[in-house]
Amino acid sequence: MVADASRVHRITVLAGEGIGPEIIAQAIKVLEALRGHGLRFDLFHAPVGGPAIDACGEPLPTATLDLAKSCDAVLFGTVGNPAVDHLEASKRPERAILGLRRELGLFAGLKHIAIPAALAHLSPLKAEVVAGTDLLVVRELDGDVYTGQPKGERVSPNGAFAGQREGYDTMRYAEGEVERIAHVAFRAALGRSRRVCSVDKANVLATSRLWREVVSRVSVQYPAVTLTHMYADNAAMQLISRPTAFDVILTSNLFGDILSDAASVLTGSIGLPASALLGQGAGGMFEAGHGTAWDIAGQDLACPLACIRAAGLMLRHALDRPDLADRVERAVVTVLEQGGRTQDMRGDQSALSTRAMGDAVVKLLQAR
Ligand code: IPM
Ligand code: MG
Repeated sequence: MVADASRVHRITVLAGEGIGPEIIAQAIKVLEALRGHGLRFDLFHAPVGGPAIDACGEPLPTATLDLAKSCDAVLFGTVGNPAVDHLEASKRPERAILGLRRELGLFAGLKHIAIPAALAHLSPLKAEVVAGTDLLVVRELDGDVYTGQPKGERVSPNGAFAGQREGYDTMRYAEGEVERIAHVAFRAALGRSRRVCSVDKANVLATSRLWREVVSRVSVQYPAVTLTHMYADNAAMQLISRPTAFDVILTSNLFGDILSDAASVLTGSIGLPASALLGQGAGGMFEAGHGTAWDIAGQDLACPLACIRAAGLMLRHALDRPDLADRVERAVVTVLEQGGRTQDMRGDQSALSTRAMGDAVVKLLQAR
């Protein structure tokens, strides 16, 4: 990406469904508020997930994908709907997320979890356990059982359950896939506390044994970074008992899916941290990374902060405006420190609506 502040950035906005549209509206409000700081952008909206299935019969229409490919970045809301759980995999809204990752070459999912002491009381864990947590989950996003072939359903050919239907997936990683995500983690560690904990299940899985070997090999290129390995079950336990002990957690797609949600909720709400989905080149996709929350959709209750933070990550990673990204992050933290809460968070303060929370962030941005 060319570092040119006057450039008009092209942003694809995929609001999706559930609480997606209402949280995206707040993130857009924040971006609009930054126009005064020389940020220039055009937004291009397109359907994805359920609304795309309704409009075009598929969760990720070609036009949506082409638009995303033609833009500098994608700001993503939420997709998914328990009401269509019975549909075959290719027609399910989640397919859109997996398709976008694959087609845009987004193989790295970054989720930063920071819990300043002042906000530790929001956590479901004891404040003294989480205070000072500052970790980054680097999750491989394209391989593993998510996309490994073969996968499907068949009649069990042998064993105690022969003759019954069985489902199967293939866990796999090629060396190059592990190498590229390992580099992402080690590079990130260089700008942090220089520790990488690679999470696998090498005591059981051949895939993990290869993973561990390749990560160790890549680590040689980063002598300033300390590498440790941890089994996934232990990592889940450590994340809850000693989250402050982690710096960068490097892990595969499936373990990362679980561990990044567990890490997110340490902050007090899955509605707080955001994800950056990056590939080899510039650009990327930026999302709250939580679900559609249909139970509160359309009620102006959802927390928009993760989505607003996603816009911040977009400013940092894709639009070359780390200065504005810092402003957004500071405003989000300040709102929380001042007691701003949505209904999903703890605290005795009366809850703000989705829109009021967005307004509070915008107000702080304008005050500076
Ligand atoms: C996530 C989600 C997705 C995943 C689903 C919706 C396909 O849980 O972004 O973590 O499993 O990767
Ligand atoms: Mg997930």
